Amino acid sequence: MEAGSGVGPKSGAEPALVHEYRPEDEGQWLRCRVLAFLDTAYFDNVLREKERYGNPAIELVAESEGTVVGLIDLECETAPGTVCSARPGLGAMIWHLAVHPDHRRLGIAGALLTEATKRAAGRGIARLEAWTRDDAWVQKWYEAEGFRPVESYLHVFLDGGRELKGAVRNEIPGLLPVQAFAHYVGEDPEGMRTRFKRVHQCVLYELGIIEPGDALGPGLHRRKSP
Ligand SMILES: CC(C)(COP(=O)(O)OP(=O)(O)OC[C@H]1O[C@@H](n2cnc3c(N)ncnc32)[C@H](O)[C@@H]1OP(=O)(O)O)[C@@H](O)C(=O)NCCC(=O)NCCS
Repeated sequence: MEAGSGVGPKSGAEPALVHEYRPEDEGQWLRCRVLAFLDTAYFDNVLREKERYGNPAIELVAESEGTVVGLIDLECETAPGTVCSARPGLGAMIWHLAVHPDHRRLGIAGALLTEATKRAAGRGIARLEAWTRDDAWVQKWYEAEGFRPVESYLHVFLDGGRELKGAVRNEIPGLLPVQAFAHYVGEDPEGMRTRFKRVHQCVLYELGIIEPGDALGPGLHRRKSP
């Protein structure tokens, strides 16, 4: 898909156009992201400013009738293993991907990924990575696009005195923890799920984007043709 071409018209609306993020898109970018996350395991992951990156980035939005309805941000490595996991080839991390709930299943995320992939490949990026929590339908989207899961760990939310007791020690007099968020990389995931109410599996997905035959490590999955 060319940047600027349309995708997925919704019931008579203008098709969404994919174009580069502009600073004036920030307010709508933030609104689209928060609305897209409301029915996901990231429902309380709210940003008030768009993230900026230390490395070259590919930042695209899909716009329909003057409104941002989708977004994707990739941060591109200039040296392997600096943003993504240490695997062969330069990687790019998808830090943000979201489609407004009223504009889903119209191919908007696919179009954003296609354009971002084309731009990333043009910069010598061999593979994409993305972390996502355990929303089955989101994982289904990644897998339908050719990504494969490569590793995971747990996101654990500790809420209230009962869950914090014995798990978080406070060493500052007068400071009383009420909530905590932790990564769990230990050997007892089931124990975490039994002990704490809100536990998510956070999964790393990977997608190879260079042509077969190029020098990549064994087993790197490549994207199907769009
Ligand atoms: C995941 C997400 C980006 C997909 O956007 P989208 O524009 O709806 O996706 P596309 O139209 O390109 O692809 C649709 C395909 O994805 C899969 N899919 C997407 N939503 C699905 C759902 N609710 N149930 C089942 N499959 C689903 C299906 O394979 C679907 O194809 P189909 O409609 O032909 O069955 C979007 O649902 C979203 O914003 N989710 C919330 C934000 C999020 O979790 N982002 C990732 C966190 S890192």
